[in-house]
Amino acid sequence: MTADRITSATLAAMQRRGEPIACLTCYDAAFARLLEGAGVEVLLVGDSLGMVLQGQPSTVPVQLQHMVYHTSCVSRAATRALVIADMPFLSYATEERSIAAAERLMGEGGAAMVKLEGGGELVQTVDRLTRFGVPVCAHLGLLPQSVHRLGGYRYQGRDDAGAARIRADALALQEAGASMLVLECVPAALAEAISGELAIPVIGIGAGSGCDGQVLVLHDMLGLLPGRSPSFSKDFAAEYGGVAAALAGYVAEVKGRRFPGPEHILH
Ligand code: KIV
Repeated sequence: MTADRITSATLAAMQRRGEPIACLTCYDAAFARLLEGAGVEVLLVGDSLGMVLQGQPSTVPVQLQHMVYHTSCVSRAATRALVIADMPFLSYATEERSIAAAERLMGEGGAAMVKLEGGGELVQTVDRLTRFGVPVCAHLGLLPQSVHRLGGYRYQGRDDAGAARIRADALALQEAGASMLVLECVPAALAEAISGELAIPVIGIGAGSGCDGQVLVLHDMLGLLPGRSPSFSKDFAAEYGGVAAALAGYVAEVKGRRFPGPEHILH
């Protein structure tokens, strides 16, 4: 590993300094180079690739072999950024499966961290993975892999009980060893409170500007899915004119805490 490689320790230090972390999804080598060149610190090989690359209706059909393939494309090209790979639907439903999936995503795929969606039910899994040396990013709020149970893609944690559950899950997952947390589609005040309470970096998506960093789906922020991008995202390519300028603009706006703006936040 080179000296300037971004690790969980680098991100934790950025969080302590109050320096926002810029993260984007990335699924191939060409974009891995472009994103790194623009200063993006974290490349998330998200299972959103099912929807944006494969044309699937949700992330549920994405398989481990797809994640391993795209993670290897990204990690071969990334020389500095931290590469996180999503564990696909049900690949971490048992501790044994989670270890087998992490082995492939890190061993064959070259990921430096894995991400899984869910709360208290994953505490033992996160504990076991981290004990075996697998850095874990937790994911709370809207859980896209649970779309069939949730009945759609909706903001979470809007009532007191829901907010308290997300907060308790965040603390439990940190306690279990998670190195990072993605909070998706929760009210801005809740995300800010959780970010203030946790010692690990919290990366928001549709969660307001009070998190330690931001993530967006690459194809949304480059305007590649006209009419299909969520309201919390922004078409940086239209605003800045071109891919490279859009990526540089995203990093500058995250670092300057200008993105997300009031129009991208659920109050
Ligand atoms: O799969 C994905 O792209 C994600 C982000 C939405 C955080 O998990």
